[in-house]
Amino acid sequence: MPKLIIDCDPGIDDALALLLALSSPELEIAGITTVSGNVSADLGAANARKVLHQTGRPEIPVFVGEMTPLLKDYTDARDTHGRDGLGESFLPEVPDASPRESAAEFLEQALEQEEISIIALGPMTNLARLFEKRPDLISRIPRLVSMGGSFKSHGNCSPVAEYNYWCDPEAARICYEHFAAAGKKIEMVGLDVTRRIVLTPNLLSYMTRLDPETGAFVRKITEFYMDFHWKQEGIIGCVINDPLAVAYYIEPSICSGFDSYLEVETDGICRGQTIVDSMGFWNRRPNSHVLTETSAREFMYFFFSRILKKANGTKWKREELSCLEQL
Ligand code: RIB
Ligand code: CA
Repeated sequence: MPKLIIDCDPGIDDALALLLALSSPELEIAGITTVSGNVSADLGAANARKVLHQTGRPEIPVFVGEMTPLLKDYTDARDTHGRDGLGESFLPEVPDASPRESAAEFLEQALEQEEISIIALGPMTNLARLFEKRPDLISRIPRLVSMGGSFKSHGNCSPVAEYNYWCDPEAARICYEHFAAAGKKIEMVGLDVTRRIVLTPNLLSYMTRLDPETGAFVRKITEFYMDFHWKQEGIIGCVINDPLAVAYYIEPSICSGFDSYLEVETDGICRGQTIVDSMGFWNRRPNSHVLTETSAREFMYFFFSRILKKANGTKWKREELSCLEQL
């Protein structure tokens, strides 16, 4: 596998996605870049450092990215993720030992050196800036997996829009346009599949029995998120979007979908909507692979078997996680 950069806006589900990525031996993470989304890019970087500290990986560099969307006024999601961006867990601050480069400088320098895949878990502002300046570097990105958008599922910040693409719709549009021009596809892990991934109190309790330390960390950062889901959507549990994008990147069979050309609406009441031309009306070459099916059970096996450790430090095997068969 090529090296990987994770661009994110931690954010509770971003933190769980980082936890999964950092617990996956297949991944060589070259760096983490943050972007303003759930919380501002600088607060997101502080939160990414907290996850790196939790997982014993302080050597991975974190780079602060764009603090505002390309054009739109910045709207955060602290109502969902808490004032600190990690569910008001207010975990101890981790000293900032990261290099001074910005996310954009790091992305450009890293891609000039070698091919690197990217998982984007927040608004696509950093990537849009990069592609506008250096469209030639797109050829050095084997895979771009983006948590965002939605094909047929209703939106989560408007009737039709998913937050990452709503927060900075121009950035999302620019990224899909550049990939169309390059004849490449962005792998869109949208709400059609992520809505199926619900961390429930039962699963949290099971997680904590298997690995008290990791369970306590996950509980600390998700309690606020669960309360939000109950108040907002009457859900018992919380939709954890971003970890599915990481699981899919590592194990593509965990989701299925189709290739399509898509455009992103940038203005008006449909701002941020992904217009997926699944029937080919516009006769354009696909610039996306839209994921539409997944298995919550298979995801939870994947997630639990990687982030949870036994007392002796070894991981739980699939056959030892049979409670997940209830899913
Ligand atoms: O719409 C869900 C996405 O927006 C997730 O990535 C969440 O962390 C927020 O960034
Ligand atoms: Ca995110």
